[in-house]
Amino acid sequence: MTKTYYVTTPIYYISGNPHLGHLYTTVAADVITRYKKMQGFDTFFATGSDENSLKVLKAAEKASMDPKSFVDKEAEKWKEFFKKYAINFSRFIRTTDEDHIKTVQKVLRNLHDSGFIYKGKYEGWYCVDCETFYAESEAEDQICPTCGREVFWISEDNYFFKLSAFGDRLLEFYAQHPEAIQPESRYNEVLSSIKMGLRDISVSRSSQNWGVPFPFDEKHVTYVWFDALINYITVCGYGNEEKNFDHYWPADLHLMSKDIIRFHCIIWPSMLMALEVPLPKKVYVHGWWLTSGEKMSKSKGNVIDPDEVVQDLCSKTCIESSLAVDILRLFMFRESSFGDDAIFTEDRFYSRYNFDLANDLGNLINRVYAMTGKYFNYKVPQITQWDDVFHKETEKDIAKYHQLMEALRFKEALETIWALINRCNKLIETSKPWELKKTENTQRLEGLIYTLLDTIRSITFLIYPFMPHFAEILSKSLCEKISIDAKICFGQLSPGTTVNQIGVLFPRIKIYTKNQEAEENKKEKDHQISFEDFLKLDLRVGEVIEASKVEKADKLLLIKLKVGQAEKQVVAGIAQHYEPEQLIGKKLVIVNNLKPVKLRGIKSEGMILAASDDNALSIITLEKDMESGVKVK
Ligand code: MSP
Repeated sequence: MTKTYYVTTPIYYISGNPHLGHLYTTVAADVITRYKKMQGFDTFFATGSDENSLKVLKAAEKASMDPKSFVDKEAEKWKEFFKKYAINFSRFIRTTDEDHIKTVQKVLRNLHDSGFIYKGKYEGWYCVDCETFYAESEAEDQICPTCGREVFWISEDNYFFKLSAFGDRLLEFYAQHPEAIQPESRYNEVLSSIKMGLRDISVSRSSQNWGVPFPFDEKHVTYVWFDALINYITVCGYGNEEKNFDHYWPADLHLMSKDIIRFHCIIWPSMLMALEVPLPKKVYVHGWWLTSGEKMSKSKGNVIDPDEVVQDLCSKTCIESSLAVDILRLFMFRESSFGDDAIFTEDRFYSRYNFDLANDLGNLINRVYAMTGKYFNYKVPQITQWDDVFHKETEKDIAKYHQLMEALRFKEALETIWALINRCNKLIETSKPWELKKTENTQRLEGLIYTLLDTIRSITFLIYPFMPHFAEILSKSLCEKISIDAKICFGQLSPGTTVNQIGVLFPRIKIYTKNQEAEENKKEKDHQISFEDFLKLDLRVGEVIEASKVEKADKLLLIKLKVGQAEKQVVAGIAQHYEPEQLIGKKLVIVNNLKPVKLRGIKSEGMILAASDDNALSIITLEKDMESGVKVK
């Protein structure tokens, strides 16, 4: 039977826009789900919106909308936001969904019948921002002990949940399951909080009518946290689709940040114990994204908007937004240790981009693909010789990656991928494929390029949970598919497979200080030419009629071209990238009015246009067939 894996994120208050903090938890859930799916698990991933709050009511009032229309609009926005970031949730649950309301009412009735919910009088403080009750002594100065905002006094008849009955049972459970709250520091925090004693909590409100109605007392609506926690069982079918519920519950992982552990590690397990439902296997508490040293939050006005980060990256690099999304996803987990706080700055983001992607990974792919093109005509070579040490190291890295992913140590898992990438780059430097080519050491060259391509293939699968779009592009270029059947080990690429070129995926970004930026702008202006200057160039279509190597010059080819009625000859430095016979019949672009010069004693009457960088060169040809001699402008 296939094993199941059920992961949740908190359901979010949708009264404001999603920010980097919300994205972080949700991408983490997506990363782990994609990973588990690849491992063959039957996964279920739930996220959603927490809509029955006072916060929502206030935001709707501010927007002059009725609360239901307001949440309908906002929930849609959040859902689309997550989809844009390649988050593949199984269901986006809303606490105004009909099945959820029914489940909450069922739970309330059940707990009332079994005596865990009783009526009493509530007096105490309430913080709207945290949607939390505080005892008189906890907020004497009328300041919320959690967020520092003003609290207000509540005095009303309420229903209470007998939380006090669960202290000992919770301690017993956590003693038997120390893995149930991670990291360990959070486990200790929860335990000492339980040991300090638990008081019953209010679970209804009678002074507002926005919320899940109490099934046995119409004057009350459910306290938003009590209703929200139940989403984790509604979403997989509790009291509704029992088969599905039994299939996925208990949840394998509840993800969240540290501000809401009391609800998840004390109140929620007590509710489940009262319902006689098994407890979730693990709560993992990650850190906060900080800006200017503080937790990001809408009310502090210090939030990072992921859409702005993505747009800025796109405008600096001209890459597709789906790839930019992947880059932000990667950054969040490469930069932060899951469990610790992290700081977002533009500087860190772009430095990481340049180092990790433009330099390390991007360079590796560009070099290996260019060499495959040049030495093996874009076909995966045979492998008869390989480097045992390299393969053993790779195997070790892959095994380590799996252990770290299982432990949710994403940053370190990514470090093992980068260790692999860097070892490949080093292998190129030390094996010098260009010299193997010169000395005709074919077997060694084949083995080397095969190894590099095959390792890139492994990297594709390892990086997939973090960068799904990128992995898709890379796997396609190797004629593969991301699938659970894919084996991540040496020797999976079939010799002869076509390697499709993918161009430069991560162009380097220049990071300037203000002064450097001004200087660069000036330089750019100095380099500008006028339209009249441009018109002085006579660019023409030329058809190659003859091509040959220039004796004793490794880099030069002598190319004869027909340019309209005229015949021209050009000496071009492209011999390391093209064989002469490859060029015959090609239509190229030639600078026709360049003053003739002599190169190695041979007259050269123009210049052929080509794109080139350190590794590759491509002559400019025409997209449609045109007569030779036609002007290029
Ligand atoms: N609605 C409750 C959760 C109910 S779950 C039954 C809630 N919502 S929230 O909109 O405030 O979202 C809180 C969650 O968003 C955090 O637990 C965390 O997962 C994520 N984050 C919000 N701000 C964050 C940071 N600055 N950094 C990291 N994650 C953050 O609480």
